[in-house]
Amino acid sequence: MNKTVICPGSYDPITHGHIDIIERASSLFDKVIVVVMINYKKKYSFTTEERVEMIKKCVSHLDNVEVAYYDGLLSDFARQHNAYAIVKGLRAMSDFEYEFQMALANKKLNPKIETLFLTTNAEFMYLSSSMVKQIASMGGDISAFVPNQIHKDIIERLGTSKN
Ligand code: PNS
Repeated sequence: MNKTVICPGSYDPITHGHIDIIERASSLFDKVIVVVMINYKKKYSFTTEERVEMIKKCVSHLDNVEVAYYDGLLSDFARQHNAYAIVKGLRAMSDFEYEFQMALANKKLNPKIETLFLTTNAEFMYLSSSMVKQIASMGGDISAFVPNQIHKDIIERLGTSKN
């Protein structure tokens, strides 16, 4: 059976940490749909279209990865795509409570969907989109945190003259 999994997130913007999880999901499953979704708790710096375009630039080397946008429930998106599982990265214990809550809610809304967690690569343990945005907006160097393909997009939106 072909197994499609979903990697959902805000991706505002995508980082090396996200890409590591997507690459690993891509090697484990037949098809990966990276879907940009709405986290009602967050204010975004990039539009959904911009986030989708940035992800596409970073995953073009992965043949079995598609990028989408969906403004509804993840459990519905999973149903529509007959997904086998939701795949997410877990960085630290601080992620656990929030991710566990979402996994249980998604299971309740769509009992067919499993949530699988991949342990983050230790190199990216500390990395988050909000950290990248803060560093960029204060003139810091973000080249270790995001791929070259989207470095300019981020600096143009958030960077200062120091970049
Ligand atoms: O990168 P994020 O912000 O941690 O991702 C969270 C996201 C966008 C995956 C989550 O908020 C989500 O699934 N949003 C879609 C709406 C939904 O299904 N909410 C119920 C999940 S409990």
